[in-house]
Amino acid sequence: MESITQRLLTKAFGRPSGLLGRLGGRLMAHGNAATELHAVALAEPGEQDVVLVVGPGPGVGLEAAARRCAHVIGVDPSGVMLAMARRRCASPIARGRLHLAAGSAARTGAADAAVDVVISVNNLQLWPDVPAGLTELHRVLRPGGRLLLAAHEKWLPADLTTLANMVRVAGFDPVRTCTWDPPGRMASTAAILSAVRL
Ligand SMILES: C[S@@+](CC[C@H](N)C(=O)[O-])C[C@H]1O[C@@H](n2cnc3c(N)ncnc32)[C@H](O)[C@@H]1O
Repeated sequence: MESITQRLLTKAFGRPSGLLGRLGGRLMAHGNAATELHAVALAEPGEQDVVLVVGPGPGVGLEAAARRCAHVIGVDPSGVMLAMARRRCASPIARGRLHLAAGSAARTGAADAAVDVVISVNNLQLWPDVPAGLTELHRVLRPGGRLLLAAHEKWLPADLTTLANMVRVAGFDPVRTCTWDPPGRMASTAAILSAVRL
């Protein structure tokens, strides 16, 4: 059974909802910003690339992606996070560069092979079925499309080598992994996995 602590953490960060979710969103917008920006920089999306951001939360990475690319889609299962992202990204949304929708890693709503780059930061550990999520991201990426996954190393659902193998099995190659330390004494190490869809 889920403990009270787990339930509070889910409300604040895992599937943010209500007041706690809004508070969690503010904390994440500050605390995870460096990793969100680093992930977008590593993925190197081009102006004409279609970019899918999975689980963007309050939208820091989304906003950065929409500064570089004309076609950005963000999907998140949390209505509170979608509302925060909508506020942060009001300008690119109004300019038609960014589209937000309810969705998850396993149900993105994107068409087959419609996406050039997928970026997911700090939500891999929340996917209820990692292989199902990877299968979906493989489906929506075009051949040669790029996948960039980043998550707090300490909260990974499996070790990085095991995850890399799961990504290979889902139809990606090459798959590269590394870790990265965001600036700041309190920041936690990010595990990063980048891969190309076969
Ligand atoms: C810990 S927050 C991270 C938000 C943001 N990417 C960041 O790093 O600050 C996790 C986000 O993933 C979303 N999420 C939860 N389950 C998900 C799933 N199965 N697929 C995609 N996103 C999910 C949550 O709603 C939340 O917005």
